[in-house]
Amino acid sequence: MKRTEIDTPALLIDLDIMEANIQRLQEFLDEHGIGNRPHIKTHKIPAIAHKQLAAGAIGITCQKLGEAEVMADAGIQDILLTYNILGMAKLERLLRLNRRIRLLVTVDNSPVARGLAQAAQAAGQTLDVLVELGSHLERTGVPTVAGLVALAQEVDQLPGLRLRGLMTYPSAPEMAPTIQEALQAMQAAGLSTEIVSGGGTPVFRHAPQIPGLTEHRAGTYVYNDRMMVEAGAATWDDCALTVLTTVVSRSTPERAILDGGSKTFSSDNGLPMGRILEYPEAVIYKMNEEHAYVDVSRCQPGPAIGERVRVIPNHACGATNMHDQAYALRGDEVEAIWTIQARGKLR
Ligand SMILES: Cc1ncc(COP(=O)(O)O)c(C=O)c1O
Repeated sequence: MKRTEIDTPALLIDLDIMEANIQRLQEFLDEHGIGNRPHIKTHKIPAIAHKQLAAGAIGITCQKLGEAEVMADAGIQDILLTYNILGMAKLERLLRLNRRIRLLVTVDNSPVARGLAQAAQAAGQTLDVLVELGSHLERTGVPTVAGLVALAQEVDQLPGLRLRGLMTYPSAPEMAPTIQEALQAMQAAGLSTEIVSGGGTPVFRHAPQIPGLTEHRAGTYVYNDRMMVEAGAATWDDCALTVLTTVVSRSTPERAILDGGSKTFSSDNGLPMGRILEYPEAVIYKMNEEHAYVDVSRCQPGPAIGERVRVIPNHACGATNMHDQAYALRGDEVEAIWTIQARGKLR
């Protein structure tokens, strides 16, 4: 099958670019003796996770338990779950997973740690745990080193849990002094810092400056997207993921409408809402669910009705989650059609 035969809208992966992205990150981390634990939230496709492992990754990272279950079903044996797990429904699933793979899970608070411990103990199991240190992202993570050490001490003492170290996101260079302080304080308290897990595509080249870092979790690097190019973390030529769309309307000379909108791209991250490969001067300025509005005034005459264009999305992870399938292309030839098996795994 050729690209010209694919119906639109469709998610396309340029395999040559993706494989180069996988290789580049792997070589960089190898060179610096840091383990590569890619985050699969970007692609959600077991075949790609297997490519990352074959290139040398030590394991993978998942955000949701459902994603980890899909990856374990696909034969992946080493998974870090970077999410606070709460409630019996999830704890039972977590322990089922813990029985069949090497699982690591993060915690950033005492109720979650106690819940994990209780469930693990009742099941006669041990869960490996990393404590999460907060960052400038101000999302999850213990915001102070003293708080992190107190939580690590609790994890260390709880039956059913085994403290393995710490995790943070993103591991930006400005986090280095805090990570250093956390490591010293944990070590002084006799706590394990065997694993120090950092993450993020824009910061991966700073990984060697992070004290004690044993592994790095990058996700978006596998495809890259408009946000990564804007952040200076990639070039347009490094973008492996595009959304193939058709121009369905040209009501005015300035406006073109594509046959995909927020249900095709997701509505992540501002303006412009993606970059059209064939018309880089065009600006996608608005989206409804099934329509993208494009200002083509700077690329006259612009695309004709029926013309197919490829769009680099703002956020590759969000766009991926909108699609059932991805077309993996070698040049213009479809090499595989992958089901995005871990899409929509919110639980
Ligand atoms: C906990 C965690 N680790 C790693 C990543 C990967 O970051 P990036 O997509 O910038 O590579 C993410 C992304 O959201 C994340 O939430």
